[in-house]
Amino acid sequence: MIANSLETNAKVFEPGATIGILGSGQLGRMMAIAAKQMGYRVHIFSPTHDSPAGQVADLEIQASFDNLAVVERFAQRVDVITLETENIPMETVLVASQSAPVYPGLKALEFCQNRRKEKMFLADYGIPTCQFEIVRSLVELKSVCRYMMPAIVKTTTGGYDGKGQFLIQTPDQIEEAWHTLNANELIVEEFVEFDYEFSVIGARSSAGVFAAYPSIRNEHRDHILNLSFSPSGLSDQLNQRATEIVYEIMNEMDAVGVMAVEFFYRDGEILVNEMAPRPHNSGHLTIEAHVTSQFEQHIRAVCGLMLGITRQTIPAASANILGLEWNQSKSPTWQLGLSMPCVKLHLYGKESPEEKRKMGHMTALAQSAEKAKQYVVAARRLLNIPAMSLNANGTS
Ligand SMILES: Nc1ncnc2c1ncn2[C@@H]1O[C@H](COP(=O)(O)OP(=O)(O)OP(=O)(O)O)[C@@H](O)[C@H]1O
Ligand SMILES: [Mg+2]
Repeated sequence: MIANSLETNAKVFEPGATIGILGSGQLGRMMAIAAKQMGYRVHIFSPTHDSPAGQVADLEIQASFDNLAVVERFAQRVDVITLETENIPMETVLVASQSAPVYPGLKALEFCQNRRKEKMFLADYGIPTCQFEIVRSLVELKSVCRYMMPAIVKTTTGGYDGKGQFLIQTPDQIEEAWHTLNANELIVEEFVEFDYEFSVIGARSSAGVFAAYPSIRNEHRDHILNLSFSPSGLSDQLNQRATEIVYEIMNEMDAVGVMAVEFFYRDGEILVNEMAPRPHNSGHLTIEAHVTSQFEQHIRAVCGLMLGITRQTIPAASANILGLEWNQSKSPTWQLGLSMPCVKLHLYGKESPEEKRKMGHMTALAQSAEKAKQYVVAARRLLNIPAMSLNANGTS
């Protein structure tokens, strides 16, 4: 843990205070659960009713993020505000920040809301990232693709879970990419032939104290995070280097809360893919496998408390449960999925299981990350065995 420019006048919000969360999905839900455990009150600002976060909070205010009068009233009733997603309109954040401190803070949000600014930030600080170009017309896209192919083209704003991206492998796909993404500005990234992906989750409190978790290895399926596991197998030296990068990014952005930095590992070098100024899908395994979960850490950081110990206590792997896991009998067989005692289930309280919607996750704990991975994959597979095949004892 590093104490940097400790600000003695940073405001502390003690348990009993009210935390406002903008956004109401699973990240807000798990933040709220951690906050409730510590004795805080939680108000959720949600565009939908009975949201995953709203279900576990003291109060859910349902309104659109551009209803600034409601945003103002929401902010006046809480002590401190945080966000579960960086994709909240800046105007909403500015209005809220007139009544209460809003974390991660304006600078971090500005850079993390826009892939152009994010990549420029990395380039300015000499932090290794992939080759990229910004284009604003089909002509420009064509000219960049002459020397960057294959390339991943992304919208500069609004993307998540691989949305707003197009992989261009041949020249005849350029026009299709431009028309499909349909945006005024695109970022063209070299397609990195990485060996693997990992993330490092850092935390920085409003008092300027920094702590980071050991790196977590990530595997995607169809551009959506599928599996995460830790220990990651990354060398101590690279782990240290990645942690220094996270420290530098958070410090320069004056970010408060938890921030995940996604990395590519390629042939001995590490490249930053992107940053998320909030708890991250890859950090869900910290709930069971680390002394302090990323959600508790986020609450501690935004409330100005001392950060918790980030040490891992047991190897772990987590797997996302998407809507596609809902089998033909309309519901996963939870009993079978939970038949391994080392597997924990988290469901987010979402109603309609659309194919690519993140409905929940499972985490397995084991003597090695490899074993944990096997267990969690097996447990998830069991969710898809129809309940009809169970006998009266619950075995198949
Ligand atoms: N330049 C690249 N080269 C190779 N693969 C890439 C590149 N950019 C993205 N990917 C792949 O697509 C995944 C999703 O991309 P990215 O993280 O940029 O988007 P996202 O929509 O913000 O996703 P998420 O919400 O899951 O973080 C990456 O984790 C990686 O597997
Ligand atoms: Mg990503």
